[in-house]
Amino acid sequence: MNKLAPSILSADFAALGEDVKRVENAGAQYLHIDVMDGSFVPSLSLGFPVIESIRRNSVMVFDVHLMICDPDRYIRAFADAGADIITVHAEACTHLNRTVAAIKEAGVKAGVALNPATPLTALDYILEDVDMVLLMTVNPGFGGQKYIESSTRKIRELRKMIEERKLETDIEVDGGIKLNNVKTVLDAGANVIVAGSAVFSGDAEKNVADFLQILEGK
Ligand code: DX5
Ligand code: ZN
Repeated sequence: MNKLAPSILSADFAALGEDVKRVENAGAQYLHIDVMDGSFVPSLSLGFPVIESIRRNSVMVFDVHLMICDPDRYIRAFADAGADIITVHAEACTHLNRTVAAIKEAGVKAGVALNPATPLTALDYILEDVDMVLLMTVNPGFGGQKYIESSTRKIRELRKMIEERKLETDIEVDGGIKLNNVKTVLDAGANVIVAGSAVFSGDAEKNVADFLQILEGK
């Protein structure tokens, strides 16, 4: 089943709890939480206290996207803060296999993210070990950017790779996904859809409902 993962990066941080409730009540299954360190990506976002606070008020699947260098240092802490899925960037890990093992040992699902210019071959020897692959469809660091068109072919090729290996790995797409291009990424093989600005600009409940209608129609 397809899932919607609203990204709180585009929420109103002065009313974060309410924005989270809004998308949860509207039926979003995942909550996408972007953690940035000002080093792997130019921007800074949020950390443990914020995740712990919203965890107390939500039963959504917390999908934590770590855009940080050397994430091994914090895996246990993010699991303790309430993450259900922890995704690390292949480009940010010196020993990716070890990092993925550490995520699983912490009792949460493991995801690996690839930047737009990173080839799928980076997954060749790790795909069997991960629950989800996150394909960045913009360069990470900011919400509200434009979808990079070459991503569609990449999604298609990853779906083929997963099918050939008879795996059930989720494909999450992140960046520039709107109501008018979500069908393209679903058709290509993505099944977990991140949407930040497209959900939180305007009426979040209505936006979630509109997305879910397209996701469920598939
Ligand atoms: C970007 C983040 C995204 C971001 C997506 O680095 O990983 O999750 O919030 O925002 P939109 O959907 O506005 O492109
Ligand atoms: Zn993200």
